[in-house]
Amino acid sequence: MCGIVGYLGSKQVVPLLLDGLKRLEYRGYDSAGVVVRQNGDLRTVRAEGKLEKLVQKLEGKIPPGTYGLGHTRWATHGEPSERNAHPMIDSKGRVAIIHNGIIENFLPLKRRLQDEGWSFSSETDTEVAANLISSYLEEDLRAAVTRAAGELEGMYALAVVSTVGDPEIVVTRQGPPLVVGFGDGEQFLASDPAALIAHTKDVVFLENRDVARLTAEGIEIWDETGERVERPVTRLNWDPIQVEKGGYKHFMLKEIHEQPLAVQETFAGRVDFENQRVLLDDLNLDPDQARAVSKIDILACGTSWHAGLVGKFLIQGLAGIPVEVDYGSEFRYRDPIVTPTDIALGISQSGETADTLSALEAAGERGARLFSICNVPGSQIVRMTDGVIYTHAGPEIGVASTKAFTTQLVALYLLALYLRQTRKGGIEPELLQALAHLPAAVDEVLQLEPQLERLARDYSRANDFLYLGRGLNYPIALEGALKLKEISYIHAEGYPAGEMKHGPIALIDEDLPIVAIATGERVYEKVRSNMQEAKARDGIVIALTDREPAEFEGIAREVIQVPRVSEELQPIINVIPLQMLAYHVGVKRGADVDQPRNLAKSVTVE
Ligand code: G6P
Repeated sequence: MCGIVGYLGSKQVVPLLLDGLKRLEYRGYDSAGVVVRQNGDLRTVRAEGKLEKLVQKLEGKIPPGTYGLGHTRWATHGEPSERNAHPMIDSKGRVAIIHNGIIENFLPLKRRLQDEGWSFSSETDTEVAANLISSYLEEDLRAAVTRAAGELEGMYALAVVSTVGDPEIVVTRQGPPLVVGFGDGEQFLASDPAALIAHTKDVVFLENRDVARLTAEGIEIWDETGERVERPVTRLNWDPIQVEKGGYKHFMLKEIHEQPLAVQETFAGRVDFENQRVLLDDLNLDPDQARAVSKIDILACGTSWHAGLVGKFLIQGLAGIPVEVDYGSEFRYRDPIVTPTDIALGISQSGETADTLSALEAAGERGARLFSICNVPGSQIVRMTDGVIYTHAGPEIGVASTKAFTTQLVALYLLALYLRQTRKGGIEPELLQALAHLPAAVDEVLQLEPQLERLARDYSRANDFLYLGRGLNYPIALEGALKLKEISYIHAEGYPAGEMKHGPIALIDEDLPIVAIATGERVYEKVRSNMQEAKARDGIVIALTDREPAEFEGIAREVIQVPRVSEELQPIINVIPLQMLAYHVGVKRGADVDQPRNLAKSVTVE
């Protein structure tokens, strides 16, 4: 994950930047760099690989200077290389910028800037922002950053220094976090407070679209309307465990909130947005082999099995390949029919789940080629399969899976697109644009948390919950119910909405909350009818929808309105409120949400 640090004060900046980057090392990255302003010029030093490589490169020739920026990069646009590493300098050499996130409209902006005579030396979306800011730079860096940010779509945390004016750093964000810290005659900034607490405890977490200016005198902040604002200063009295939790009360909550970046990292470096291609190098499935696949058996357990059920829709829908999905523990006891042109795809966050591994083994014995989707490099599933799509979600500590699940869905989408590309000759641009927009939409849906917390308060005393969904959202109903069971110990069932009338309808009374997922077009009306059936039996209907709440008047007592994304990616958006609901109900009931009773993070027994 990209890491951002910055410093402005009277000390030598590069050692401070390196120290801050070191504290962000746990996030993983593929290149790093620093920039310092020196005698009116911007000096950057960048290196591919670990931070150590940058440190070696700087040995004996640390550029002097008392303000600058540092960055660790996880590739999104363009391969990991020194050329694509940050900081990026614009083609007139006037601004240097570091960036975390994804700029969705980078291509039209790039074309426009090229027409205006700006040149590009990298494949990154960041360089587009650098040139854009520079194109607006006269005297005032803040004005240029504000104007440029107004044209950027997507998610970004940006920090910029320039060759003009007095020492200053200008930062802004939309989505990814950015925190600024106050010292005595010195100011700090970082993507994560972990990089700051060695130096200062007084910080401000910037709001979306805030623009802040760090100077020797202090930090000034403007909100999205351009008004000067004072944001509350938070004092970070964190113990080491709190540092690890990033200030969140539980790992689960932290991991829920990491999802905008986590989903981005899953597709980072795997999509060539300019040429509309998906690249899955670690998969080891070349186009000829991909064309020859006759069936895919997805094997998984728990939450990963739910991801598999969504994967079935994605792969069948986008690539036209038949897919079966089995629980790891069921597959080999049902005499499955597997042929050598089949592939078996194990999905496992940990890569160590015994049932999934045994099922893969059984598929392998019957001649299938084995592949995996996994979050843990070098785990057993990776070692036993021919190829892997890593989810790159970062460590997941909470036992209940959240970001591991949504990143599995992204990995499955990438696989479906890759298969479409090889079998149907290409991928439509809108399918990739939808992916570029996903992190911003995930960020948006997280803003619903206060509503979910309120719902949790109102319904935490229920004895049962019913979750309904159809099509792609049926697995999401299952996952919503599983999360609630795991975290709050409330009995919950996930059901295909259309099946409700064949049994669960008998459970409905005035005490039963029914969470019904009604997004998209295909089955929307059907689910709405199912909600009406539930309402007619006095059930408490909670609608999760991408439509206006007014459409559910007289039917739903509560409406959770989520942003609309493409049909294929909507399950990723829809599951997040359900994660937050389960989390807050668990907290209200006093449960140990990070380590629910009887559950384990990885289950290595059959
Ligand atoms: C355990 C965990 C679940 C997880 C399942 C499969 O039961 O508690 O959260 O979904 O194992 O784990 P895997 O690591 O294979 O995805």
